[in-house]
Amino acid sequence: MKILGIMGSPRIGGNTDLLLEEALQGARSGGAEVEKVIVDKLKIAPCRECYGCLRDGNCVIRDDMDEIYPKLLNCEGIIIASPIFFYSISAQLKALIDRSQSLWARKYILKQKPVISPKKGAFIAVGATKGDNLFAGAVLTVKYFFKTIDADYTAELLIRGIDQKDEIKQHPAALAEAFALGKKLAE
Ligand SMILES: Cc1cc2nc3c(=O)[nH]c(=O)nc-3n(C[C@H](O)[C@H](O)[C@H](O)COP(=O)(O)O)c2cc1C
Repeated sequence: MKILGIMGSPRIGGNTDLLLEEALQGARSGGAEVEKVIVDKLKIAPCRECYGCLRDGNCVIRDDMDEIYPKLLNCEGIIIASPIFFYSISAQLKALIDRSQSLWARKYILKQKPVISPKKGAFIAVGATKGDNLFAGAVLTVKYFFKTIDADYTAELLIRGIDQKDEIKQHPAALAEAFALGKKLAE
């Protein structure tokens, strides 16, 4: 099983990254072939809302999204990981998701059948504060994105109260949960 991990934090080696690494290790231990994409290292322009994608399901912008589309289409499982930024996902990850409007056009306008459907999807998020609604916005965005790429929202790991760069290392239970999430996704 091919599992794609999308690391949405600009802080490499930070909490999101460490949690995703654990999840991907778990997936590997479950026999999956894993690939990790660090969104911040890519050049991904925001969607221009030109609706060029309605013609043939392809985005008119040429940038690093060109290498992401086939990964989104061909994976069998996907783990999205993001820090909470202003009650949402990071801007880097949001740009990647918005540019997947071309995949939305394929599904809902052009009625194209996806190559692999359904996929298994999981979401990992980490935020500094502890409010009830901390993850509500991010979860909605990821669920709608998963629908677009035909991924079922099968698991989530939402961690509150973590702020400093690799503070998550002081929470081995959270890292163990991330490992277990990845392993389960690979089943
Ligand atoms: C631009 C920005 C916005 C943030 N907004 C929130 C927020 O709305 N709620 C919250 O609890 N934490 C917020 N945080 C804190 C991060 O979610 C937190 O530090 C997290 O552990 C960062 O994960 P990372 O190390 O993977 O980047 C914000 C941090 C930044 C830099």
